[in-house]
Amino acid sequence: MKLLVTGGAGFIGANFVYYELENHPDDEILCVDKLTYAGNMETLAGAMRNSKFRFVRADIADRKAMDAIFAEQGPDIVVNFAAESHVDRSIETPEIFLRTNILGTNVLMDACRKYGIRRYHQVSTDEVYGDLPLDRPDLFFKEATPIKASSPYSASKASADLLVMAYYRTYHLPVTISRCSNNYGPYHFPEKLIPLMIINALSDKKLPVYGDGLNVRDWLYVRDHCTAIDLIIRKGREGETYNIGGHNERANIAVVKTVLRELGKPETLIEHVTDRKGHDRRYAIDPTKIHAELGWLPTTSFEEGIKKTVAWYLEHRAWWEHIVSGAYASYYEKMYGNRTVLDP
Ligand code: NAD
Ligand code: DAU
Repeated sequence: MKLLVTGGAGFIGANFVYYELENHPDDEILCVDKLTYAGNMETLAGAMRNSKFRFVRADIADRKAMDAIFAEQGPDIVVNFAAESHVDRSIETPEIFLRTNILGTNVLMDACRKYGIRRYHQVSTDEVYGDLPLDRPDLFFKEATPIKASSPYSASKASADLLVMAYYRTYHLPVTISRCSNNYGPYHFPEKLIPLMIINALSDKKLPVYGDGLNVRDWLYVRDHCTAIDLIIRKGREGETYNIGGHNERANIAVVKTVLRELGKPETLIEHVTDRKGHDRRYAIDPTKIHAELGWLPTTSFEEGIKKTVAWYLEHRAWWEHIVSGAYASYYEKMYGNRTVLDP
């Protein structure tokens, strides 16, 4: 079997590449990645030594390039991780999110139609459902929850999901969609909450918590996301959407305090700053369907996962130091330099 994995030089895509190479050693993996600021060949160094793995630098929204790759490689399964993935960046510059996340999905699916595939899998997000109120802990996102995106990022991912389902209905393209909650673990780009807090705390820099810090995210260790996608692409039903999450809701402020405790750093490093525009309050996934149909359950608790993640960042300083010493420094200054510090 030949898998085409897009966005495999990013956080979840790379973890998925390693998961597949380990668990399906007979399969071939072709990774297609544009290598944006978020793509990193250092992350794929181990995979590059595996004869079953190949890397091609290309943009999923480039029709000619995708056509050539599909014509030459004839993948059986396409797993689309490639995306602009950061909400804060989408608030600053929405356009690239529309191009990659919507047009890129369109181009990939057109290539799938033209050359024929066994499965096109769209890696989507729980953010397409909008948010839930903090005072209704009984509510969860189900697959039937209406789409109601809040940010340009989530609107672009929601648009792509609609297009995927339209290709299923109109052209009978064999598709599946997964919508996962917040991931964390190795190779997470430093702009996201958990790695940003680990890296800042290690340098005794302030930890910028947006608003009151009470926004809730439903955290899943990245490998558990990979096991879910692996099951969906091999055993999931065509035309179906599967929510992925492990019932692990935490307020941001609690996550940040956990990171500080793990590193033995003081809570005085925490600084509440101006809130994100349109900030979603709470995400919470109901994973009943994937459990009932495919037997999927997460295996890593948050306590264990956060320990492993902190240990990984301590052991892989060179990986993140190369990032934070480059263009990321000016991004950080732009996003956080002028943010007002809120009164405690
Ligand atoms: P990431 O930003 O770490 O990686 C994205 C990768 O896509 C990078 O390697 C980048 O170079 C590549 N890419 C971007 N534009 C491209 C283009 N036009 N053509 C080819 N490659 C391109 O993202 P991530 O956190 O690993 O997320 C991967 C996917 O999972 C995304 O689709 C995201 O929406 C989804 N998702 C993420 C989370 C999360 O918590 N991180 C949760 C649920 C779903
Ligand atoms: O839910 C899945 C989504 O999770 C994915 O679709 C996105 O690609 C992924 O980036 C993530 O989105 P979030 O916006 O939830 O993740 P982020 O790490 O940016 O922020 C998590 C929470 O922490 C959010 O409530 C905002 C807050 N935050 C974030 C940063 C970067 C802070 O308080 N301070 C920060 O500096």
